[in-house]
Amino acid sequence: MKILMPAEVTAIRDLTPRIRLFTIKPRKRPAFPPFRGGAHTILQLRPGLRRPYSITSDPTRPESWEVAVLREPEGRGGSRWLHEEAVVGSPIAASFPQQNFVLAEGATRHILIAGGIGITPFLSMLAEAPGAELHYCARAPEDAAFLPELRALLGPRLVTWFASEGRRLDLPALLAAPAPGTHAYACGPARLLEAFSAATAHWPAGQAHLEHFSGLPPGAAGEGAAFEAEIASTGAVIAVPAGVTLLAALRAAGQRVDSACEGGVCGACAVPLEGGEAEHRDMCLKPGERAGQIITCVSRGKGRVRLGL
Ligand code: FES
Repeated sequence: MKILMPAEVTAIRDLTPRIRLFTIKPRKRPAFPPFRGGAHTILQLRPGLRRPYSITSDPTRPESWEVAVLREPEGRGGSRWLHEEAVVGSPIAASFPQQNFVLAEGATRHILIAGGIGITPFLSMLAEAPGAELHYCARAPEDAAFLPELRALLGPRLVTWFASEGRRLDLPALLAAPAPGTHAYACGPARLLEAFSAATAHWPAGQAHLEHFSGLPPGAAGEGAAFEAEIASTGAVIAVPAGVTLLAALRAAGQRVDSACEGGVCGACAVPLEGGEAEHRDMCLKPGERAGQIITCVSRGKGRVRLGL
């Protein structure tokens, strides 16, 4: 696990009926480490409960971080804990920032596309790119967190698309003509990201960026056929039955593997892949990283894989 910093919740505020903003401060250092806009941290809410959250606060104010959390009654428990049990003073821990989703260096135009709670990584990005344009999709204005702040910050560069007003973003039209120096970024539900991927399929490599915030649902993470995992350091072979995740099988066999989202989006459970063929189902590794790593909470092997543990 990346190093965890002791911290505590110092403020809680409702942004919408379902989204709550948590301010956290470090307990043993004057400030959190620097991060670039769009980064996320993995919060340990209590022992055994770790979840990734985008840092929404301004990167130039490291004394505290803010995370905005959507209440998801059917989720894996992180949002439920934050909404129902966290209080001002709750001790938690935060990982160093994870920088998977940041603004491209040297870009001349940034087009940001957010769906619902997918707005969160863009808050800190906008602090670094005040000229960016933001398309914000939500069911209704009252569901859209940070709306007043974004209106004040962006003025006409904020374009809202609220289903309640009959307005739907036409991604193919918006992204029809990629230009040199233009980069597009999307974060939101799977349907939005699929539409974004399709609309940018003809874009030059590296100019379209997306971040998943919801991975495979709990019941789907272990789907797939049985296989075996060989531990390189000991030669032990661990059976991974159908319906059981590689992560769960490794832990049951005594291996220590970190995790956070357990849905394939944060990368915390990656282990080195030294041999065999993997069935990659994650949403966080780049294609070039897949030859040497496997995301154990959702990905599986075919036959037998050899792990660098
Ligand atoms: S725990 Fe997040 S990708 Fe596996």
